[in-house]
Amino acid sequence: MFNRFVRACVVLGMCIGWSAQAEDEVPRDAAKIVGEVCVSCHGQDGNAMVMGAPKLGGQKADYLAKALMDYQSGARNNAIMSAFSGTLSPAEMEAIGKYFEGQNSTLSVPK
Ligand code: HEC
Repeated sequence: MFNRFVRACVVLGMCIGWSAQAEDEVPRDAAKIVGEVCVSCHGQDGNAMVMGAPKLGGQKADYLAKALMDYQSGARNNAIMSAFSGTLSPAEMEAIGKYFEGQNSTLSVPK
């Protein structure tokens, strides 16, 4: 009886562990990540006015994804952004790039 209980717990534990792992691999929603992590500096649409934080709205998706990958790998050195890119998966960095590319830019060229 006890043995069967232990076995059931082990199997259940494996199932829970497996589903948790499977969930981890699903990229989180880009707009949600921005809203929770990046918004205070870059703004939800990538056009914040915080000193030193570049505008990201309307920037090319692959440029933004590469910037995030470079911060994470250390190829681009910035203490703030290496911390904030640290938990992003490659798929999430690409999704965030596409998300910001789809936003309007408030940058303009002088006429
Ligand atoms: C505490 C403020 C802060 C937060 C939060 C923050 N950033 Fe940044 N971000 C910066 C600063 C400052 C820079 C400029 C760093 C540099 O000089 O390389 C930057 C640069 C960037 C760049 C490079 C832009 C370019 O033109 O090369 C990207 C992309 C970026 N951030 C995305 C994000 C994303 C995505 C998040 C959320 C996961 C985030 N940032 C969170 C402050 C922040």
